[in-house]
Amino acid sequence: MSKTMIVAGNWKMFKTIEEAQTFFAELARRQAPAAVKVLIFPNYVALGALAAAKAVPAWVALGAQDVATKTEGAFTGEVSPAMIKSAGATYVLIGHSERRHIIGESDALLREKLENALAGGLIPVLCVGETLEERQAGRVEAVISRQLESALKGVSLAGAGSLVVAYEPVWAIGTGVNANNDQIEEVHSMIRNHLANLFGTEIGNAIAILYGGSVKPANFAAIAALPSVNGGLIGGASLKPATFGELIDIAAER
Ligand code: PGA
Repeated sequence: MSKTMIVAGNWKMFKTIEEAQTFFAELARRQAPAAVKVLIFPNYVALGALAAAKAVPAWVALGAQDVATKTEGAFTGEVSPAMIKSAGATYVLIGHSERRHIIGESDALLREKLENALAGGLIPVLCVGETLEERQAGRVEAVISRQLESALKGVSLAGAGSLVVAYEPVWAIGTGVNANNDQIEEVHSMIRNHLANLFGTEIGNAIAILYGGSVKPANFAAIAALPSVNGGLIGGASLKPATFGELIDIAAER
């Protein structure tokens, strides 16, 4: 156990309030893990209910899967940073590939969301990653650079703890095919260099970089052992408390 790891569960559009509470009732039977930060990103509805029911163990931090670009107003369907915080959440996903590629969120919109999240006191988990087409065209660095620069250039951070970056190759999300160790190390070091350029070496070298995309107990030990990896952002394998618990145990071994 040499570094603090983050194990983050992105529940996407899964789990009713009741299902979310059942998950936490089971997860709460576990001991608080040493040197592992555990995050869960439920849907907004479950998020609010979980905090109200005090269903979440103290060693789990909550996050939202999205956030508005404004603080309040006539923006039907949107949820502000203050509302997210009032539900007990401290993190927010920004630029998850499903929002970029299915919902169609642009780099410019994500920049606004990220700035609004930071201004509202939330910790953004900025997700970046290339599609298979972009990888095959040799454009990984160009795509990741663009995503990082458009979201972060000129942003001022209070410290390394106020931002998390997740590398999630689009072709690895929900496909069962995870990026291999060399691919992860290569892109994570690219991200690390960019962060150091943007924020200086002290902050840039201390921002946590997570890997996401078909993480499961069978592959997480190898991924978590990579020097460039500070944890995982996990979709499918975060939905069952037993499997998610296995991932927490694996991270605790690092
Ligand atoms: P997956 O999803 O673990 O189901 O591939 C990861 C994510 O979308 O964050």
